[in-house]
Amino acid sequence: MPSKPKVQLKDIGLDIGLAFAKHVYKTDYLHYGIWPEGLKVEPSNVLQAQTNYADLLLKNIPEGVESILDVGCGSGKFTEQLLDAGYRVEAVSPSPHLSEIVLSRIGKRAKLHQSRYEDLNLGSRFDLILFSESFQYLNLEEAFVQTRKYLNPGGFMLICDFFNREQAPEGSNPFGLDEKSPISGGHGIKRFLEIVEGQPFRKLEDQDITAATAPSLDIMRDLIHEVIRPSWNAVAYYMGSNYPKFTAFFSYFFRKKINQAHRKYFSGNTSGAQFFRFKTYRLFLYQLEPDNKIDV
Ligand SMILES: C[S@@+](CC[C@H](N)C(=O)[O-])C[C@H]1O[C@@H](n2cnc3c(N)ncnc32)[C@H](O)[C@@H]1O
Repeated sequence: MPSKPKVQLKDIGLDIGLAFAKHVYKTDYLHYGIWPEGLKVEPSNVLQAQTNYADLLLKNIPEGVESILDVGCGSGKFTEQLLDAGYRVEAVSPSPHLSEIVLSRIGKRAKLHQSRYEDLNLGSRFDLILFSESFQYLNLEEAFVQTRKYLNPGGFMLICDFFNREQAPEGSNPFGLDEKSPISGGHGIKRFLEIVEGQPFRKLEDQDITAATAPSLDIMRDLIHEVIRPSWNAVAYYMGSNYPKFTAFFSYFFRKKINQAHRKYFSGNTSGAQFFRFKTYRLFLYQLEPDNKIDV
């Protein structure tokens, strides 16, 4: 019997993220928000900020586009919006749990491919391929091969995601020698731009939305500080007083992971200011040269 594929930690992270987002912020989106001046950075405004992000995506779909492949469609909330806007949509989701949620939301209105984008095997092409905060999970080279394969000649690639900066932006502390970003995720922006330069794509848009998206991390910091950390401390206290030997063994065995979690999440380093320093959030729109597709 073939062995079951192992569950990936990042998938579990997204499943838990969605459960929190639904319960705490009353939202089904799994992307950052756009926080314009005047929108107070507080939990009750998360859904509004994320709706602003979805509106920005819709605004950047070029006229004439009819068919869209939504890669890494999360809970399918934005896929549904695309369908409601009249586009013909297919979606890609490698996560079994998220796929169930997508299916319950969109039913048969859109075809759902439960697969990694890199492994996708289709017989059709699209006018636009969308990567809404899913691009960072993909193998860069394989993603370009697939995108050239599944775009119609002259089709569009819309990427809205964050990348790692090579150096701190002007006016903020330069990166220390061994300093690592406390916030994970994202391809290096330099490498991405170099690779795309060698591809048959023409850049139509490059919008830097880092400052507008960074407050999403302040929301996350407050959630960690006010909910997750006190819960963790309470469980640690209970375990330490009731099962001291087990707790000592557990703490020793997982000391690296525990220290890493403290450094990343409990140090207060997950914040908008740190996000702005280490990451650059970009909306890129590219058009495939009309005579440069790969056969499907
Ligand atoms: C942060 S969520 C974004 C969800 C949604 N696009 C949105 O904007 O709300 C990242 C998505 O990428 C998907 N993903 C992760 N690795 C992937 C891969 N190799 N191929 C396709 N999708 C992937 C996840 O399952 C999830 O749906």
